[in-house]
Amino acid sequence: MKAVGLFQYLPIDNQESLLDLQIDKPHPGPRDLLVSVKAIAVNPVDTKVRAPKGEPVTETTPKILGWDAAGEVAAVGSEVEHYKVGDRVFYAGDITRPGCNSEYQLIDERIVGTMPRTQDFQAAAALPLTSLTAWEALFERLGISPTGEDAGKSLLIIGGAGGVGSIAIQLARKLGKLNVIATASRTKSSMWVKQMGARHVVNHRNPIDGELKDIGIDAVDFILCLNNTDQHFPAMANAIKPQGKICTIVENTAPLEIDLLKSKSATFVWEFMFTRSMFQTDDMIRQQEILNRIAELIDQENLITTVGDTIEPINAANLRLAHQQLEAGRTIGKIVLAGWK
Ligand SMILES: NC(=O)c1ccc[n+]([C@@H]2O[C@H](COP(=O)([O-])OP(=O)(O)OC[C@H]3O[C@@H](n4cnc5c(N)ncnc54)[C@H](OP(=O)(O)O)[C@@H]3O)[C@@H](O)[C@H]2O)c1
Repeated sequence: MKAVGLFQYLPIDNQESLLDLQIDKPHPGPRDLLVSVKAIAVNPVDTKVRAPKGEPVTETTPKILGWDAAGEVAAVGSEVEHYKVGDRVFYAGDITRPGCNSEYQLIDERIVGTMPRTQDFQAAAALPLTSLTAWEALFERLGISPTGEDAGKSLLIIGGAGGVGSIAIQLARKLGKLNVIATASRTKSSMWVKQMGARHVVNHRNPIDGELKDIGIDAVDFILCLNNTDQHFPAMANAIKPQGKICTIVENTAPLEIDLLKSKSATFVWEFMFTRSMFQTDDMIRQQEILNRIAELIDQENLITTVGDTIEPINAANLRLAHQQLEAGRTIGKIVLAGWK
């Protein structure tokens, strides 16, 4: 089968950084689906895994990236209960297994959802990784009510126009009924976050606590940080209300001054979308439930898909282009690739 992968971890302008390959089609384990991948989305995790490591590393078998896909079930393992051949599914996947940049992929049925009925493969592929991240961050880690019991409380989303921000704004507004303030630094990204449902927009190129004060907001109940935790931590500590909650999804590169939160008894919590599959947690099937709920919300027109750009077909040259765009840090919504011509 066709696949795009790497043997060496190289800068994206190197033609060898992502290669067109032919690899063997895998066979499903007991709880696996074999999915015929029709469309994929790219995420910063792809570029982080692909990036050069300190010491040169050469893989003996190709490393296949990609953790956002939509496709059709082609075969099922002996213990699969929820899906059958022909079902249209969407999923993010498991960082410890080969990714979706291949014509067929194995995926544990517990982290797979049924695709929205009203969407094509491209629109569906834009959703899983970012929706799971946003849902888990908002409703599980920050503990915001998904049924509106926190209506009217304030949420600051740092990095609002990116993949995660685009769906997080919608979920917080539509389900949480929160007053969402999103950050964006350009006219185009500011317009996009408003379109997604942000009430206010502030600029993350300036200290965000100062930006909030300029629009009359002293402090917020919740903060969701989707970009550069190191840069924004001091402003988050200033801008969080006493007993408020901060969640970040981005690794810090230097120690954070966590004691800045002590006098406010503020909560600081991590979200990592791969935790459940990486540790095979008892509640791993929660990701199937979240994806099915997302599909329902899309079909009911309570959420809109977040595709920003679509590229065809799926091959190494187009994936290198998509990685380059992501690495520039100015993506609006999601970049999707479709088809295996
Ligand atoms: N923990 C997890 O499970 C998890 C899951 C998904 C993603 N992530 C991580 O979360 C981050 C965001 O992912 P994503 O898919 O949303 O990324 P993305 O789509 O690439 O985000 C692009 C957006 O980031 C904004 N931005 C750029 N520099 C910024 C800064 N210094 N401060 C605030 N915003 C800035 C840009 O807005 P402007 O153009 O307006 O400047 C742009 O719209 C990545 O680091 C990713 O690896 C973690």
